[in-house]
Amino acid sequence: MKARINGIDLAWSDDGHGPPLVFLHAFPLNRTMWDPQVAGLAHRHRVITVDLRGHGESDAPLWRYTLDGFADDIKHLLEHLGLARATFVGLSMGGYILFEMYRRYPGMVHALALADTRAAADTPDAGAARFSMAQVAYRRGAAAIADLMLPKLLSPRTLEHRADVRDRVRAIIAGAPVSGIAGDLMAMAERPDSTPLLPRITVPTLALVGEDDRASPPDEVEAMARHIPGATCVRITHAGHLSNLENPDAFNAALLKFCDGKAR
Ligand code: MLT
Repeated sequence: MKARINGIDLAWSDDGHGPPLVFLHAFPLNRTMWDPQVAGLAHRHRVITVDLRGHGESDAPLWRYTLDGFADDIKHLLEHLGLARATFVGLSMGGYILFEMYRRYPGMVHALALADTRAAADTPDAGAARFSMAQVAYRRGAAAIADLMLPKLLSPRTLEHRADVRDRVRAIIAGAPVSGIAGDLMAMAERPDSTPLLPRITVPTLALVGEDDRASPPDEVEAMARHIPGATCVRITHAGHLSNLENPDAFNAALLKFCDGKAR
């Protein structure tokens, strides 16, 4: 589906019936990374997966991207759908956006699932690396970004033995608009430190992390969860950073258990 939301054409999918779950994807992917969650959860939930601005079938304007802007897009989409509140699932960059969503629109957040994400802001070196990556995207295109990102996103085991997952992730990244890639990098480089927010989160929260995640290491994600009152953290076996794609059965089971209130 597609509609004019917050000044751009925004695309999303809406499957199933039940309590709404809204999924925000990682950098630089799109909503199709959540296909295994649509397949595994839509029998129990209304599953809404969004192409963030700059990705998939959404517009990719050549302009400044910010986490506030992404959060505003999601707020307007929920209003368009007539949803007052939802449970949100965000992986990595999707998680960064959820911190912003919670800061700006806490009343819309019923519960949070923060997957393979971090609360800390970028260090100056990490910010500079974002700038360099944006220049690579501009000069050599999205396929070059796929080459750089694959070893960060997938575990060595997935890269070696799961050609289907590897090729799919590569194709998604290679198809991403350069304006969206650069926009995300700018937004992530400028994001605030969300660590002070953690103790103030009062909604049920689940953290998930692939046991082989090198981009947001399990120890860091577990430490983040310890600062959120009542939060639990689940390690996803046989998975790296894209834990939802690398081990969808374990990811979906953890999410369903959380939604059933068993893991709060
Ligand atoms: C992501 O998966 O969204 C990225 O690894 C986030 C980041 O680069 O910080």
